[in-house]
Amino acid sequence: MEDLIKRTAKAISGAKKVVALTGAGISVESGIPPFRGKGGLWEKIDPMEYAHIDAFMKDPKKVWDVLIRETNEFIEKAAPNDAHLGLARLEKMGMLKTIITQNIDGLHQAAGNLDVIEFHGNFAWHYCLDCGEKITAKEIDLSELPPRCHCGGILRPDCVFFGEMILPDHLSRSRHLAETCDLMLVVGTSAIVHPAATMPLIARENNAMVVEINMEATPLTGVVSDFIITGKAGDIFNRIMDELENGV
Ligand code: OAD
Repeated sequence: MEDLIKRTAKAISGAKKVVALTGAGISVESGIPPFRGKGGLWEKIDPMEYAHIDAFMKDPKKVWDVLIRETNEFIEKAAPNDAHLGLARLEKMGMLKTIITQNIDGLHQAAGNLDVIEFHGNFAWHYCLDCGEKITAKEIDLSELPPRCHCGGILRPDCVFFGEMILPDHLSRSRHLAETCDLMLVVGTSAIVHPAATMPLIARENNAMVVEINMEATPLTGVVSDFIITGKAGDIFNRIMDELENGV
């Protein structure tokens, strides 16, 4: 483990362009449950029944009641953890170009990162299905579900549900970053949902080093990634940052 931490710190300090791909696992230490793995949300509810756009359009009250309201509550209570803060420090030190995150919790920006691609959108903003007006999560009146805009239209989060397209700009910029980086840090993602999970493959095809930080092996491990550092992202980032800041 110590050897892998040292190798990662050395790779970060020697790389010309470092990109991070993050997933739900990076926010677990901030109190937000992941989707898969231990304590994962999809163990309790079926994503096709709650996180697909067709499910939302068919029964927005049900999706608000079970998924969106609770997610907003988790996010409201959450603060960046040591992994988010480590990535923010790396950006400030000029050692991290961009974060591509699948997370909708805004914790990378809260930690101080300025260049974050929210691949699956975010829950900070919601918009009206009828008039398109945007409203922050905090301003929404939840006394009746689904919550409605002042025009009477139903509100939805500004996220990407299953069955919806990734924003073309987000996709093309992420692809370009994957093609041109020389190191990709893949943190806390099960690497199962595409096209996000394709980014490490693209990086690898373009000869970048790919390092995973995760509690468990993923489909990338041993195939796409050079190695995996197994453990909690917060602890691992503290050790990487220690190594980097003490001069590798
Ligand atoms: P997942 O929940 O699928 O995967 C989380 C990963 O993080 C798992 O591999 C865990 O083992 C790992 N993990 C858990 N705790 C960790 C910790 N403290 N430190 C490091 N790793 C940890 O989350 P994503 O890969 O982000 O999409 O899921 C991808 C997409 O599937 C989500 O964006 C969402 C979901 O359905 C949509 O809803 C469209």
